[in-house]
Amino acid sequence: MELRWQGAQKKEAGFWIRPGVLDSELERIKARYVPVINELSRTLKKDAKILDVGCGPTCAGRFFPSGNKTYIDPLMDIYLEAFPERLPPGERLKGLAEAIPKEDNTFDLILCINALDHMIDPEKALLEMRRVLKPRGILLLGIFLHPRPIAMVRRIVERYLPFLREEAHPYSFTLRDMRSLLEGFFSVEREIRVFRKENSLFPRLHREDWAFICRKA
Ligand SMILES: C[S@@+](CC[C@H](N)C(=O)[O-])C[C@H]1O[C@@H](n2cnc3c(N)ncnc32)[C@H](O)[C@@H]1O
Repeated sequence: MELRWQGAQKKEAGFWIRPGVLDSELERIKARYVPVINELSRTLKKDAKILDVGCGPTCAGRFFPSGNKTYIDPLMDIYLEAFPERLPPGERLKGLAEAIPKEDNTFDLILCINALDHMIDPEKALLEMRRVLKPRGILLLGIFLHPRPIAMVRRIVERYLPFLREEAHPYSFTLRDMRSLLEGFFSVEREIRVFRKENSLFPRLHREDWAFICRKA
């Protein structure tokens, strides 16, 4: 898996340094996630500790109006070099979700947007996020989910036809997969479909962007 992941990360690094990408991806975050972030921010204390896992250069945690923020991403050095003036202030760590360098029960809120299906081991990453969340802390998980037949085809391609696979995403999840994965770690309080490609001929065949608001017991 490590080797597969390294290939995905190479692709990812290439994606983010394309001209104009950061601006358009920030628009994605604003349109789909800022309404949820605004809602959650009303429940947080001003000095809440917030961790953005797999933050990319968009660093969606920046949209929380207050809080002590930490950003972690294995490509952080590349993002710092490519966008020295565009990453938000806060603690910026180069590291993996599977081994978050923080003590147990540290954060009030963790967000992880469009990153879980890029990781080496999503289950281990969720376990780590739960570990560093305070009791009753919130995880805002954002993820692209595929219709069942598409996810099945993607998995077959991933396993047996690697030359055809989509390099950046080692994993393909459905809504049902994500529900059962999250329920093993958190109590899922809300599921919000934040984007669907309505203007396509067959919207049901496209991946959809979902937000899950989860709480640590
Ligand atoms: C598609 S980008 C999303 C970035 C940002 N969250 C967003 O929505 O714009 C996926 C990010 O996940 C990061 N990533 C990949 N594997 C990871 C891992 N094991 N732990 C933490 N982040 C990881 C990548 O480096 C990349 O920055």
